[in-house]
Amino acid sequence: MAIQSLQVTPLHPTFGAEVAGVDFTQPISPELYAEIRKVVDKYGVVVFRNTQLTDEAHIEFSRYFGDLDDVTPYQQAGRIHRLKYKELFDAGNIDPKTGDVAAMTDATVIGNKGNALFHVDSSFNARRAGHSLLVAHVLPPPGTGGATEYGDSRTAYDDLPQDLKDRIEPLVGNHSLFHSRKTAMPEYFKDLDVESLPMSKHKLVQTHEASGRKNLYIASYIHHLDGVSREESDELLAQLREHIHKPKYRLTIPWEQPTDMIIWDNTCVLHRATGGSYEGKFPRDMRRTTVKDMSSTRYGLNGEGADWRVGMP
Ligand code: OGA
Ligand code: MN
Repeated sequence: MAIQSLQVTPLHPTFGAEVAGVDFTQPISPELYAEIRKVVDKYGVVVFRNTQLTDEAHIEFSRYFGDLDDVTPYQQAGRIHRLKYKELFDAGNIDPKTGDVAAMTDATVIGNKGNALFHVDSSFNARRAGHSLLVAHVLPPPGTGGATEYGDSRTAYDDLPQDLKDRIEPLVGNHSLFHSRKTAMPEYFKDLDVESLPMSKHKLVQTHEASGRKNLYIASYIHHLDGVSREESDELLAQLREHIHKPKYRLTIPWEQPTDMIIWDNTCVLHRATGGSYEGKFPRDMRRTTVKDMSSTRYGLNGEGADWRVGMP
C-alpha cells in the first residue's frame, strides 16, 4: 500500500509545522502513523487543517500514540462531563447543563482558566502526559480570539548559559493542578491550601527521548523546586519562566475551521490558551485526547508504576 506523502510546512524557525496530505476520513495505517510521528517528534507541535475527524476517529487515531488518559478524576471531583467519551477532555466553554456558552463564573470556565498560563498537560499526575491531540468542533467568529500559543522548551533550554544549565540539572519540580488554578484565579481560590494537596515530582531538565534533545520541563503547574531553598526556587522559577516566555520561543496557531487538529508533545513544548473577546459570548467547543507519556521518565520521581491522578471540578 502506498504511503500518502506528507507536505510539511514549518511555522517557526525552531519548531511547529503544518502538515497537509493526510486523509483522516480513512483509517490511518501504521506506516502513515510512523510518518506523522516523525514530524511530531521533530517539530513538537503539528497542525492538520480540516481533518473531518469524528470523536470516534479522533480517539482511534490517538491510540497510536500510546495509552489514553480519561476524565474520571475530574468527574470524581464533581465536574459534569458533557461529551460522549471519557477519553475526550473538554477544553471548551460550553455549559454542560445548558449546552450554551458557559457563564464566566461557571465551573467549566473556571476549570479551564489555568489553560491561559503556559503549561504542559497533566504534569500534576504521577504519570505525566505525552501527546495531546486537540480537535476544534465549534469555533468563535474570526477576529474574536481563541488561538492556541506554543512555547519551544527544547530551544529555550539550548539557549541557557552553561552555568545555569549545570545549576538546574539536578532539580526536581513539584507540580500541582491546584497551584495553577490558584495562580490563574487568586481571589476565587484564596482559601485553597495548595501545599496540603498532592504534588507530582518530575525533573526540571528532561531529555526528550524521541529527538534526543534536552528540554526545560517547566510549566505553570510547578509550585516549587526540590534541591534548593524555597527562596532560590522562587527566584529560579521566575528567571526561567521569564526566559522561556520570550517572544522568540513562541508560536501562535490560529484555529481556522471546525475539525482542525493540533497535536503537541507535552514533553518538549509548552502551550496555552490565548482567550479573546469571544469569552463568555461565543461558543468554543474543543475536545482533546491526552496520551499518557510512554517514555522511560513517565513516572518522574513518583515511583515506577505510580499512576494516581488528580482532579478538580
Ligand atoms: C488544552 C489546552 C488550549 C486552548 O486543551 O490542553 O490547554 O487553546 N487548550 O484551548
Ligand atoms: Mn492544556
